[in-house]
Amino acid sequence: MEIIKTVADLDRFLQPLRDKGKSIGLVPTMGALHQGHAALVKQCVGENEVAVVSVFVNPTQFNDKEDFRLYPRNSDADCALLESIGVTVAFVPSVEEMYPEPDTRVFDFGMLDKVMEGRFRPGHFNGVAQIVSKLFYAVKPTRAYFGEKDFQQLAIVREMVRQLAIPVEIVGVPIVRETSGLAMSSRNLRLSEEQRQEAAEIYRSLRLSTDFVNEKSIQETLDFVTNRINQIDGLRVEYFDIVDGNTLQAVSDWNDSAYVVGCIAVFCGDVRLIDNISYKKI
Ligand code: PAJ
Repeated sequence: MEIIKTVADLDRFLQPLRDKGKSIGLVPTMGALHQGHAALVKQCVGENEVAVVSVFVNPTQFNDKEDFRLYPRNSDADCALLESIGVTVAFVPSVEEMYPEPDTRVFDFGMLDKVMEGRFRPGHFNGVAQIVSKLFYAVKPTRAYFGEKDFQQLAIVREMVRQLAIPVEIVGVPIVRETSGLAMSSRNLRLSEEQRQEAAEIYRSLRLSTDFVNEKSIQETLDFVTNRINQIDGLRVEYFDIVDGNTLQAVSDWNDSAYVVGCIAVFCGDVRLIDNISYKKI
């Protein structure tokens, strides 16, 4: 596996492969890799002749400086994992490399980034779009892989690619969970053992709420999940929204959309966790 630190070196490495018509897969990550990332990387390695994984903690998407400072960084272990999966290139740039000058681009995603994460983390998705677009320009991937765990991010990336007419296929990958049901996340490293057990209530409540489809109202479902989770001492729901999976706008009735998804953000102590579930209608 090549470990490459600059865009110029990356381009020098990839251009001959592009010339030969090889398919190139990209998995953008912020490192502290776990089995959730590994699922994206394995799929990328399986579906492309060349697999590029970027490891870069992107400062422009952190609206909270402390969160950026505390974000786990473990690049030796990350590279070892990527090598073991068969990745071609680990792209590990510095902040100066990706932002030689401040990125002043402002994206307009309409209503997509006004809700949920966009509402509680102002500027977050603009920063995601800045870095993901730069990575797309640098790598020129055939396919790029994003987890459904960050449901809104996946929708924003699809919209960005559409707006900028970038020729890349965006592939969504299902959420990977701990045995307890807790969605895997680099931020789980900051949870104590007790907090991890508490946090398992998030997915337990989401799962239970799938029985509510067409049986109880949307409002009852929202209240059920929120109250159950808030009853646990260490947990506090920041938002729980039931939305149309394409527009991300709240639905008020199960029949408002054919694709209904519940998206949640919960503080476990000072660690912010997100998860989501798709409501299948029978
Ligand atoms: P990061 O949080 O490192 O996640 C990298 C990718 O892994 C994202 O597409 C995310 O959705 C996916 N992922 C994380 N946990 C997952 C899980 N449990 N199951 C499935 N997929 C999972 O998301 C980012 O980084 C950044 O915003 C990034 C896109 C790299 C831009 O900086």
